[in-house]
Order: sequence, then structure tokens, then C-alpha cells
Amino acid sequence: MSIFRTKSIEASMASADDSEHQLKKNLSALDLTVFGIGVIIGAGIFTLTGRAAQQYAGPSIALSFVLGAVVCGLAALCYAEFASTVPISGSAYTFSYATLGEIIAWIIGWDLLLELMLGASVVAQGWSQYFVTLLGQLGVTWPSGVAPGSVFDLPAFVLVVVLTLLIAKGIKESMRVNLVLVAVKLFIVLFVIFAGIGFINRDNWTPFIPPSEPGKSTSGLTTPLLQAITGMEPVTFGILGIMSGAAVVFFAYIGFDVVATTAEEAKNPQRDLPRGILGSLAICTVLYVAVTLVLTGMQKYTEIDPDAALASAFTAVGKDGYATLISAGAVAGLTTVVMTLMIGATRVTFAMSRDHLLPEKLGRTSPTTGTPVRLTLIIGGVVALIAAFTPIGKLEEMVNIGTLTAFLLVSLAIPILRKRRPDLKRAFKVPGSPFIPYLSALMCFYLILNLSVETWIRFVVWMALGFLIYFAYSRKHSKLENGEDQAGPGPQGSPEVMSER
Ligand code: ALA
Repeated sequence: MSIFRTKSIEASMASADDSEHQLKKNLSALDLTVFGIGVIIGAGIFTLTGRAAQQYAGPSIALSFVLGAVVCGLAALCYAEFASTVPISGSAYTFSYATLGEIIAWIIGWDLLLELMLGASVVAQGWSQYFVTLLGQLGVTWPSGVAPGSVFDLPAFVLVVVLTLLIAKGIKESMRVNLVLVAVKLFIVLFVIFAGIGFINRDNWTPFIPPSEPGKSTSGLTTPLLQAITGMEPVTFGILGIMSGAAVVFFAYIGFDVVATTAEEAKNPQRDLPRGILGSLAICTVLYVAVTLVLTGMQKYTEIDPDAALASAFTAVGKDGYATLISAGAVAGLTTVVMTLMIGATRVTFAMSRDHLLPEKLGRTSPTTGTPVRLTLIIGGVVALIAAFTPIGKLEEMVNIGTLTAFLLVSLAIPILRKRRPDLKRAFKVPGSPFIPYLSALMCFYLILNLSVETWIRFVVWMALGFLIYFAYSRKHSKLENGEDQAGPGPQGSPEVMSER
């Protein structure tokens, strides 16, 4: 059978009603927005902003954030249409299974795992750095043998283990913890903005776009692919700096798509998912641009601390107490990001195992908690090990490339589904289709080209591993292969694919 076989949307909806694989429907539009903000605001704004301003774009990093928001906004529209049409757990994976075919769905699922599991590990490491910094500010010294950056990052490991147990217990309970931590995080971000405004020195904003210069830190494998293939001399700052800055700070927006992974747990997904996705993205964009303007106004971009920019900016103006408060806020804020990314990862693998592309038993929900406990423990274990044992600062771009690839495919899927299933009820529609979806795909591709050669190589290896698993296991075990699920028409609506079943 064709690797481009599709699962019909009706079959996707029906598998969600299977009692052994059912999730509880608990979440409102507000829950979804809070969930979105909980995962979006994290290591990106607390740590990456400073580094990106210093290395790529100076004050114009604010424009990188605007560009990142435009790319994400376009992709978010596409996600919102899909989520309102196919409100099933598994996000982009499920959407593409119904439209582009099994192999593309597998690729997207595999990309999403990269995004969510590596993302959780990266943010757990960031959390651990802030945690140890905070202890230091409070006068407690953490043993260096098990500190972040050493062979075993103990705080990151413990954090992931505790969160895994919490998630396994049940999503409503996790949402409650999330709500409190999101409130703390929003308070800290607003605090940075309002406390920082008074310390802005407009001279720091001139020049707003620093003139481009040869990139010192970019050579060989760290050169952006676009610059490497066009044979350009690697440069930073200037307009190209804004572009490479956008490809990096894109990380700060990752997460709005995770809202779509909880579709089955929403009370009214068709109405509330688009609200949750677009609402959380809009709020975060405004906050990010404000924070970057304050930060680059408080300190000359050349003097920004690349590790703990927000806290250090306040230390630099003599406000040590504020710096401690910000570190504490970061510790609270990053916790929710790790948790939400892990929830997303369990939901994607859950959907994949329900389709038997991954072993079916893994995805059974526990009758007491209503959550896929086994999967949660496995994902938690993997994330804990990656967070504890991999070096810091190496994996962010990998998260970006996985996510951007998934966004690109989701964007392309919108016009395809409109053509093939014009009959489906769409509570939310992307305006200006197919132009907007195509523009979205193009912009994602452009950002991907701005990621480093090294990241591309790692990504190719990850994808090769994915294909190996697909052809060795998933293809044969797929529910569609075994006739247990109703297949949809082939990608071109070809009757042959239908009759092959
Ligand atoms: N957007 C999330 C963060 O900034 C992944 O940490």
C-alpha cells in the first residue's frame, strides 16, 4: 500500500472515541490561552534575547522579534484552521495524516518530537542555570560537580522527574499548577518592562540597526546555510543580522502550536482552539518587543550579558534586588515551559501509537488518571537524560529546524485539504488562502535557510533515523495497513489507493 495513504478525518475523529484511548475533555478557551502563554514565554526571552542582540542584531533584535512573530502568526492561522477542522490530539501530525499521507504525517510527528522533547530538555537546562544563579544570589553555593554545565546536571534532572510525575497524575491538576506559575511569569515580564522603562538611555538605541560586519563567531559549520551556499562572506548585524536573529529568536515563540496538541481535551475545540492559539501568540509578541526595547535601551548591546541578560541589566544599574526577583521569576516561568512541552510530546506520541505507527500498548490511557501514563514516563525519562547529560547551548537550533519544518508542511496542507474536503465544517478559516498559507511556507523555508550548516547536518541524521523506524516498523504495523481504520482518498484523491484496501 502507498506510503501516501491517508487516514480519513472521520476515522481520526472516531479513534478519539475509543474508550481505551480516550482523554478527558476539561479545557476552556482561557485554559488554552494560559496553556499557550505558559509554554511560549520561557528560555527564549529570558536568555536568548540578550545573546541574539549581542551577536546578531543589536537593538534591531526587536525587528527580529517582529519578523519571528509574522512567520509564527501566519503559521498560527494555518494551525488554527486545522485545529478547528480536525480537533484531535496530536496536532500537525493528525492534520497531515488526513491530508498529505502517512509518510508526511510520520515526518511531521518525528519533527514535533524533536521540537518538544529537545525543547523541554533545553529549557530544563536553562531553568537549572537560573536556579543555581538564584541560589547564589540568596547566598547558597550549589556543588559544582552536579551543577549545570558539569557532567551531570542534577537540578535539570530532578525538575524533569518531578514534572513527569505531575503530568502522569492528570492534566487538570497540571493546568492548575500551570496557572499559578504563568501568573508569576507574566508579572515578572511586566515588571521588567515597567521597572526598566525609567532606565532607558536613548543613546543606546543609536544606531538602531548596527552596520553589518564580518561575523567573528560564524565560520565553517556555524555559518548560516544560506550564506554558505551563496558563498557570501559570513556577516552579522545589518539587515542580514536581523534575519539570522529572527531564525534564532524564533525559539521564543515556539509553543503556540502545542495548544493544538491538546485539542481532544478542549470542551469546545472548534471555537476555542483558534482563540487559544492566536490569543497567546498576540500577547507574547507585544511583551517580547517591549522587553527587547527596554533591554537594549538600558544597556548598550555590546555590553549585554549573553547568559542572564534581564537580571544583569538591572544589576548594571545598581538594582541587585530586582535582579534576584527576576531570577526567581525565571525559575517559576521556565518550569511551566518544560511541563507544557512534555505534555505536547506525550500527546503527539499518543496519537502516533493510537494509529499503531508506534507500539499500540504504549498509548493506552490509565482508567484512573485518564492520561497515557506509560508514554508520559518514557518521554519524561528521555527528556531527563538529555537535559542532564548533554552540553548546554547546543540544541536550540535543532528545536527550531524541527518546528519550522512542521510549520512549513502544515501551511502547505491547508490549500490541499480545502480542495479535497470542501465539505468539512471549518469554524475558523485562514483569510486569503492559498496566498497566506503559501507565504507562510515560504517564510518558514527562508528562516530554515538561515540556520547553521551544523544544524542541517544534525537534522538530516535525525530524519534518517526516523525513516529507518518508519520503514522497519511503522509502515507494517500501521492500522491502515491492517485494515483496522478507514482510509481516506489518496493524496490526489486517486481511486486506486482506495481500491487497494
Ligand atoms: N518558547 C519557549 C521558550 O522560549 C520554548 O522557552
